[in-house]
Amino acid sequence: MTSIREDEARAEIAHHGKLLYERRLAHGSAGNLSVRLGDGSILVTPTNSSLGTLTPERISKVSPEGVLISGDPPSKEAFFHLAVYDERPQAGAIVHLHSTHAVAVSCLCHEDTTNVLPPMTAYHVMRVGRLPLLPYYRPGDRRLAEAVRETAKTHHALLLANHGPIISAKSLAEAVSIYEELEETAKLFFLVGDRPVSLLTCEEVTELEAVFGS
Ligand code: 13P
Repeated sequence: MTSIREDEARAEIAHHGKLLYERRLAHGSAGNLSVRLGDGSILVTPTNSSLGTLTPERISKVSPEGVLISGDPPSKEAFFHLAVYDERPQAGAIVHLHSTHAVAVSCLCHEDTTNVLPPMTAYHVMRVGRLPLLPYYRPGDRRLAEAVRETAKTHHALLLANHGPIISAKSLAEAVSIYEELEETAKLFFLVGDRPVSLLTCEEVTELEAVFGS
């Protein structure tokens, strides 16, 4: 993980929040973004804020133990952000949103919850990979953070039932790009609907994983 200056991280969160809002991946006051700083503290979007109108100086700074250091009161989901950072030393940023198509997938009944989106395209496999579904807990419930902690040990992309995805990556730009890939795959999933779909084969998925390290 490359460490980022605090003022740069604040500006980046505000920039990407606006971009996600303008692209209609974020709406109302749903969703939260965070960046990990070099000393292990995190910058996370304030609770109940619109990602479209974030003020860099008011973004919450929270210690690795979850204590507010400065800024507005943090997202009620700061605890699952911290759980992901704990388990993924390589993670520098997290995106959690309630985008329409990904949330629709999270509301479906899935027989196999270890991977709820099929390998329809190479980019989905390369960027998102396997997408497990976690049980429903209300937003802010500490049990949600514990469920996230367990799955984050082995996955950078996960989906909270009846809620939405969490994506972690080295940088915020990368996490946003992976999130967008996931939302587009979810859109395709509904677009193809019940028609017979030609999925990538196990061999094709394995080749992508070998070549792109996905
Ligand atoms: P916060 O406003 O506390 O970040 O919560 C928004 C959200 O997306 C809950 O899942």
